[in-house]
Amino acid sequence: MNIDGIPTRTLRADPARRTFEIIDQTRLPHALHWLPVATLAQAAHAIRAMQVRGAPLIGATAAYGLAVALSGQEGDDASDARLHEAAALLRSTRPTAVNLHWALARMENALRGLSTAERGTAAWAEAAAIAEEDVAQNAAIGRHGLDLLRRLPRRHGRVLNVMTHCNAGWLATVDHGTALSPVYAAHDAGLPVHVWVSETRPRNQGLLTAWELAQHGVPHTVVADNAAGILLRQGKVDAVIVGADRIAANGDVANKVGTYLKGLACADNGIPFYVAAPRSTLDFACPDGAGIPIEERDGDEFRLVHGLAEDGTPAVVRQLPAAQAVGNPAFDVTPARLVTAIVTERGACPASRDGLRTLYPETADD
Ligand code: MRU
Repeated sequence: MNIDGIPTRTLRADPARRTFEIIDQTRLPHALHWLPVATLAQAAHAIRAMQVRGAPLIGATAAYGLAVALSGQEGDDASDARLHEAAALLRSTRPTAVNLHWALARMENALRGLSTAERGTAAWAEAAAIAEEDVAQNAAIGRHGLDLLRRLPRRHGRVLNVMTHCNAGWLATVDHGTALSPVYAAHDAGLPVHVWVSETRPRNQGLLTAWELAQHGVPHTVVADNAAGILLRQGKVDAVIVGADRIAANGDVANKVGTYLKGLACADNGIPFYVAAPRSTLDFACPDGAGIPIEERDGDEFRLVHGLAEDGTPAVVRQLPAAQAVGNPAFDVTPARLVTAIVTERGACPASRDGLRTLYPETADD
């Protein structure tokens, strides 16, 4: 995706200096700030504090976090003990996005059989391969998703109206995004598209979506989460596309809390509900959505609201007293029956065990 007209990725690695840079997403949409990550602790903090977020980018960051842990600015220690300790710390940062576990397992598999002298360089190379694959797979999701979008009837004239939830765009991946990749592909191909962006309380990832759509020049409108139902009912939405943090073997989809309500409203209004995700989000070892761990986050995400004061400086406003009991589940599970299709780098398939197995026959033994 372009920032100020320059093709830019969300993660920039510098293996020679044993460091990498991320965009601090806690400062968006108000400030674009690149943050250096040079230690294991910084990498783990970046994921846990959601300076990076979005399932594929969490995976890529964890991979580079492991590289930094074995061969970083704190020195070289690629022993079995360090590998195990670093992977365990990174794995503990966030529970729901399976891409994190997938990336760390892949790193460990690539490194375990090597000598400690070989592991540092190999870790940086494997992390780069994970990032490159993410870019290629998301681009392919864009092409397959565009085929679906082109076939949709448009209820409001020439413009295709797509709704999304949370941020499953460029910022949530190394490049392109998952749910937004078909949207960018459509826009770039000249298909007029407009995106309804739901705010996504309590962390407001919809504002990240609005920011990146604006960077790329895609028309969009931000709405409160609670407005989704009326828009779907009024025929103002031709399709909903969301990303995923984990898709179980039967096609049940864990994604940002609020996704399930959109799936229900789509079903009631006969509107297609698509889920776009790469292979690294598919968890064939998890039989159905009941087995997906749902992250419960700190209640202060709810009690405090972050933004800018009138003078433009960052400000935090308390909307609930510190003692107020709040619930803050970060994800929900949309049952496969509500999902029209899952779009992966290999194409679109029904959200079912058979559909996923048809796209990924090599997983039959998982
Ligand atoms: O808590 P977050 O912001 O990491 O949650 C992100 C989402 O739920 C995304 O929709 C999902 O990770 C897919 S990102 C391509």
